[in-house]
Amino acid sequence: MKKGTKILFSSLKGGVGKSTAASLVAAALAGDGYRTVLVDLDFRSRSLDLMSGVTDKVVFTFDDYLLERCSAEAALVKMPAFAPPRGVVKAGELLLCAACTETVFESGGDGMYEKIGEALTRLAEESGADYVICDTGADSRIPMAVADSFADLAVVVSEQSRTAVRAAEMTARRLSEGESMRSVRLLINNFDVEAARRGGRAGILEMIDGCSVRCIGVIPEDRGLAARQDAGLLPHKSSPVVPAARNIARRLQGIETPLFSGMKRERRRAVL
Ligand SMILES: Nc1ncnc2c1ncn2[C@@H]1O[C@H](COP(=O)(O)OP(=O)(O)O)[C@@H](O)[C@H]1O
Ligand SMILES: [Mg+2]
Repeated sequence: MKKGTKILFSSLKGGVGKSTAASLVAAALAGDGYRTVLVDLDFRSRSLDLMSGVTDKVVFTFDDYLLERCSAEAALVKMPAFAPPRGVVKAGELLLCAACTETVFESGGDGMYEKIGEALTRLAEESGADYVICDTGADSRIPMAVADSFADLAVVVSEQSRTAVRAAEMTARRLSEGESMRSVRLLINNFDVEAARRGGRAGILEMIDGCSVRCIGVIPEDRGLAARQDAGLLPHKSSPVVPAARNIARRLQGIETPLFSGMKRERRRAVL
């Protein structure tokens, strides 16, 4: 993908792992040496600053930048990225623009959704980012506005439940209807291999079928992840979500990567 690639993470359903997946993929892209900007556009449920342990560093939020009350530099705080893999000399910077609260809609006046797209475009340029990752909430207007005015690619996140798959299908359909949206991909998150194998939960192919979009990757379940996020920490280095996010980051870079590359156990046992 070209420099300055803009990626939207979305789903009309909450709790499926949009913020988790967006922050993991951003940490992996930065680990691979790319300057990566992560923007929290979930104005109802700001979470990325907490998950990455940088809340105390946040002074300005997205609305300050949108309303030109601060520079791009001031709106971005450095957050931890994955360690660079072998062959990559140095990790790139990972920078977070924290979400404001809903008051932005009161202070922003008419045309707020267009203004969000304009502010993102400005932020992408001024930050010199190789990748801009936008995390959104479970509403539809902000993701659609970002898709129409800003994003090159939309990643629709779904976990294994049938309600999440249905919501992902609906999200992907609506995003595909957008005028300027070029590609939509499915990201399967919180995937429980054993449950799929036993037949109680949807398998990967079933989920892809249910959404009717190509799959960018599968992030497995890590039962220790929520506690790490609560402590503002990246996943443990032995967590299966780490190679999974790295694989997705590589695919975003245009590097062909097998679905379970580096995730041997999942590969052996996954029931497609
Ligand atoms: N791959 C995963 N393994 C285990 N828990 C996960 C995984 N992805 C997300 N979670 C948990 O699910 C919950 C919702 O995730 P979150 O990223 O906040 O969802 P969303 O942004 O879609 O509302 C969080 O408690 C998070 O820790
Ligand atoms: Mg979220």
